[in-house]
Amino acid sequence: MSDQLRLTVFGTGYLGITHAACMASLGFEVLGVDTDSAKVAGLAAGRVPIYEPGLPELVSAGLASGRLRFTASYEQAAAFGDVHFVCTGTPQLPDSEGADLRQVRGCVTALAPLLPGPALIVGKSTVPVGTARALSSELAGAGHQAELAWNPEFLREGTAVADTLAPDRIVAGVASQRAEDVLRQVYAQPLLAGTRFFCTTFETAELAKVAANAFLATKISFVNAMAEVCEASGADVRELSAILGADPRIGDRFLRAGLGFGGGCLPKDIRAFMSQADEFGVAQALGFLREVEKINLRRRSRTADLALELVGGNLAGVSVCVLGAAFKPGSDDVRDSPALDVAQILHGLGAQVRVYDPVAASNAARACPELGYADSIRAAVQDASLVLLLTEWPEFAALGPADLDGLVRDKNIIDARNVLNPQAWHEAGWTYRALGVGLDPESADKAKPRRRSLAKDRRQGSGEPAARGETS
Ligand code: UDX
Repeated sequence: MSDQLRLTVFGTGYLGITHAACMASLGFEVLGVDTDSAKVAGLAAGRVPIYEPGLPELVSAGLASGRLRFTASYEQAAAFGDVHFVCTGTPQLPDSEGADLRQVRGCVTALAPLLPGPALIVGKSTVPVGTARALSSELAGAGHQAELAWNPEFLREGTAVADTLAPDRIVAGVASQRAEDVLRQVYAQPLLAGTRFFCTTFETAELAKVAANAFLATKISFVNAMAEVCEASGADVRELSAILGADPRIGDRFLRAGLGFGGGCLPKDIRAFMSQADEFGVAQALGFLREVEKINLRRRSRTADLALELVGGNLAGVSVCVLGAAFKPGSDDVRDSPALDVAQILHGLGAQVRVYDPVAASNAARACPELGYADSIRAAVQDASLVLLLTEWPEFAALGPADLDGLVRDKNIIDARNVLNPQAWHEAGWTYRALGVGLDPESADKAKPRRRSLAKDRRQGSGEPAARGETS
């Protein structure tokens, strides 16, 4: 290995492009690798196919410096690199809740025989526990010189660049001192800046990632379960969450009640985790995650119920404006997006749905072409009988009733992310409803018999398939 390590990064998705560009910005020579040559050509020309603040600038700077390049050739990558990062996807299998490891396996097994000498292959993808050990044994069994390490990635979409350059912690699952030394060399700058380094076994490293995501999902579903209780009792989950979060043992991060979690990681990772616990014979230990998922999905049917309630029980032909399609603000990712799921449920109930999202509209239109799309908030709310705020983009959170008065047909709004000022909307004559904010106790009593999901009943009654991701 040369003094200045040369890195390759396999897979140019959210994780791979960010990792490659950040490593180049730290001074390494980096080769990004993807089997999709059109994507490689785009990246080599500075076109970043995802919305991630700060990333296009970092890619351009890397290309301009000559330290960042892209290729579709495994041969070229094998000859170039000392350390090879595997950042390929691990989506959910089509016919089960388990993770599809074909891309990760395919990458490692294609790369290893091409390596000219000892090299370190570092997995970053989220994988079930045991994957690294199995792959490592296969490499050794086949007589390859490559050594494996597992270095899970905790970056969040929307803050991926900062999360990579200054992570909270670095976890290294290694089988030798040499592998640890190489990873310490790769991450010398964040380590110097004080980032904690955990050197551990393959299994603990793999588990660290899925356990962290399971905990975060549980925290969100906990507060959303409290939201259900608030709705039934007349309490206010926003205040409750602030009170709970003031206890440093609980902490206020990831305690925002609303439409729940989505995206390319949390939902699929907790499903894969449950599936693996089953294989390990410890399904009971993770039984609570099934409940975490159910709570999460109930927020979506609850939102559809509120919509039905506000328009008098029938959405057929009703013009509905949906603000937000991304699974969270700061991202154009619509994978398992709660916002898009609700939009689809409302469409399934007969509503004329018009969606606006500042960056995710084209991804949303590809995923859900049956919905209508607008190119501004104004166009989206025009003549709507109901407005739903489903992703808390800052420009939606900044809306006041005066921005929409005179445009809508009926003044009904559902704030599914708890970001608007309820009083302002009430005072302007709007019917404002939020998730986790109960009616006054007297009205809540009257609403009790209706706590069954109206939206779900209708769908079942009409024989319509359940919306993507919904369970009964
Ligand atoms: C997550 C993990 O945070 C990250 O460490 C891992 O590497 C990948 O998965 P990400 O999917 O980018 O990152 O999004 P995150 O910011 O964690 O949010 C996940 C979901 O939870 C979003 O849908 C968000 O809207 C929701 N959320 C988050 C809440 O509903 N309430 C909260 O308080 C926080």
